[in-house]
Amino acid sequence: MSAPHQGAPGAADDVTPTPSGTWTGSGGYADPIWETVDDYLAIRLLNGDDVLDDAVADSAAAGLPPIQVSPLQGKFLHLLAQLSGAREILEIGTLGGYSTIWLARAVPAGGRVVSLELLPEHAEVARANIARAGLSERVRVLVGPALGTLPTLRDLGYGPFDLVFIDADKGNNPYYLRWAIDLARSGTVVVVDNVVRHGSIADPDNGADDVRGTQEMFNLAAQIDGFDATVLQTVGVKGYDGFLIGRVR
Ligand code: SAH
Ligand code: DHB
Ligand code: MG
Repeated sequence: MSAPHQGAPGAADDVTPTPSGTWTGSGGYADPIWETVDDYLAIRLLNGDDVLDDAVADSAAAGLPPIQVSPLQGKFLHLLAQLSGAREILEIGTLGGYSTIWLARAVPAGGRVVSLELLPEHAEVARANIARAGLSERVRVLVGPALGTLPTLRDLGYGPFDLVFIDADKGNNPYYLRWAIDLARSGTVVVVDNVVRHGSIADPDNGADDVRGTQEMFNLAAQIDGFDATVLQTVGVKGYDGFLIGRVR
């Protein structure tokens, strides 16, 4: 039997009522109230920001999938970086540089962000968005599969990182968590996006590569001595998902 999570429309054994709202893809069904509340909060807590709006618009115009963190989530990453006093940040999964800009704005003068992106066409859009944000000095986007780039970072003079944001191909999440810890110091903050996926994470029979990768990441996190983590489940414009937030002891 499938776990009683929402989603999986049409599954033969799906006895959950179909919720109202719109299908968001990986975020599952989004209840309209989640979007209404996100809008309510964004109006009050976020400043209008042409640079970020343009980054989203140009990413969409270039055909990138609209899967960047939401504005409120971007600010969450920004605040986490500031709260932890991060000066050197690693991001895995750049897309159009939206989360990169939020993170790079949080580091003090002399700080830096290195962001790893598989696709040159995504990196190109990201670099343009980062340049418009005036952040090119402190951000490097490195192109290629992250599992190829990660082993080169130390030789390039990066690390230990103060904060690592993992948001790429979820099937590799266990490897990314390993690398995050390898490139960390005591106190490094590790954040992983999309760890709930409208509840599919709790379904042992799900079988999808991204879900399996994140499940294996949790199994690994449980085994690693010296890594303390929790998950905040989230709802909003991206549907129902969650962030892992961890600290290297
Ligand atoms: N962090 C971004 C969203 C990233 S979307 C934001 O919130 O704004 C995930 C990105 O990971 C995509 O651009 C995808 O091309 C990239 N990606 C997928 N597989 C990858 C890999 N093996 N190595 C590096 N990046 C990868
Ligand atoms: C997808 C990837 C993400 O990182 C995200 O936040 C939402 C969706 C995706 O691949 O569908
Ligand atoms: Mg994500």
